[in-house]
Amino acid sequence: MEKNSSPTKKPQKHRPRAYDNALVRFYKPFSYAERRKAAEKAGFNVFQFPAEMLLVDLLSDSGTTTLTNEQMAEMFLGDEAYGTNAGYPKLVAQFEKTFGLKKGGFEFFLFHQGRAAEHALFSQLGKLVRSAVIPSNGHFDTTRANIEANSMGACNLFSKKLAGKTYSPFKGDMDTDALASVLKKEGAHTPLVYTTITNNTGGGQPVSLENLRRVRALCTKYKKPFFLDACRFAENAWFIKQREKKHRTASIQKIVHEMFALCDGFTISLKKDGLSNMGGALVIKKGSLFMKQFPSLVNALRDHQILTEGHPTYGGLTGRDIMVLVKGLETVVKEEYLANRVSQVETFGAYLAELGVPVLTPFGGHAVYIDVDEFFKGTKMRREDFGGVALTAELLSYGVRLCELGAFAFGYYDKKTKKEVLPEKNFVRCAVPRNKYEIEDLLYAADCIKELYDNRKKLPRAVPVYGRDLSLRHFKARFELVPLS
Ligand code: F0G
Repeated sequence: MEKNSSPTKKPQKHRPRAYDNALVRFYKPFSYAERRKAAEKAGFNVFQFPAEMLLVDLLSDSGTTTLTNEQMAEMFLGDEAYGTNAGYPKLVAQFEKTFGLKKGGFEFFLFHQGRAAEHALFSQLGKLVRSAVIPSNGHFDTTRANIEANSMGACNLFSKKLAGKTYSPFKGDMDTDALASVLKKEGAHTPLVYTTITNNTGGGQPVSLENLRRVRALCTKYKKPFFLDACRFAENAWFIKQREKKHRTASIQKIVHEMFALCDGFTISLKKDGLSNMGGALVIKKGSLFMKQFPSLVNALRDHQILTEGHPTYGGLTGRDIMVLVKGLETVVKEEYLANRVSQVETFGAYLAELGVPVLTPFGGHAVYIDVDEFFKGTKMRREDFGGVALTAELLSYGVRLCELGAFAFGYYDKKTKKEVLPEKNFVRCAVPRNKYEIEDLLYAADCIKELYDNRKKLPRAVPVYGRDLSLRHFKARFELVPLS
């Protein structure tokens, strides 16, 4: 036996977390009846439900991260100066390091969150192009809304593997045959191509490096700029390392650099893999095709940023937020963090699957997606009865909050035909905040979901009593729960 080695084998069944709790918060106790009353008052809209009444809040993984004690410590070093606060050059340097950007080789626009960066990009681009189409592997709803609000079209080229029931490691990929045909037909009207990593609208599934390379090659062939929506870049890199053989021995940092070497620029909500509670950015590489094709855009974007966010060196953030981000972008690419993060989501998803609840597999990095159509299969629930909304509404009383991303959130009411127009995907998402919950919390949420799954025939319809015909209706609507006849 080697000196200092253990005489027995290391236990393999359970793995400790890569961190412990540096700060805890106890909940106030609430009963089922109290929560039910509050849910009714909120019109069964999950966004309107008071968070303090919840036990497990899986509404979003955005901005809900529990900070590390190192980030908390950095907050005290935040510099609240109006111009070039001490944290700003540190953040620029951290962007270079994390994303492999050339020193001084990019235009950096800081915003308070991701959609503000998207709004800046598309509102300014919209002034320069006519009847444009922007293809993606799956636009997030704010990205789509920002494109459409500026008279451009957004098109989703989901991978065919996403709909399949069989295992596929990269269901988030873009359908590159479809992209080739869009660029062939609509190339003249395509100012850029987008890829969302991981693909939140497409079940939180990862995108392979090979697919990113193919998209880049098509963009090069048709002389089109290529952008990433990079919110969950580190989780995506983790999947590349695990599932793409060629990259198994590469470090996460190296994989991230390879991913970002392919794009002209990116938008990012730093509320996800920035491991912060606020922040967003737009990066455009100097000398990129995008910059060459739209040379006036940088100045227009700078003006927009100053008019809407503030001085470019703080961009809608406090000096404290900036320091949190510097540390967050350093931490997020650590393998011990990512291993823990992704395996927690996977354990939760596997438990739900074991209980028989229909979930999309393999699991993505930030969430488990319940297939609502499968959930209600064999019951009288039709898509236009919004069973996904009813499921989320009922769960509130158990202290569990999920998010419907399906028939209601992505569908709309056609006033002319007085009918619902239903979307392609019908999911309820259980998004797991970073560094916040222990596995027991997630297993409790799964038990509650299973309880409702066992009683699915008795679940009510969700009837919108307000807001059915509004834009972004899922944030505003109110519902009544009506028994299925
Ligand atoms: N892009 C993607 C892929 C996103 O998931 C989000 C936000 C955004 C852009 C916009 O960023 O919220 O900072 O303005 N997703 C959150 C979610 C809201 O719950 O999935 P933001």
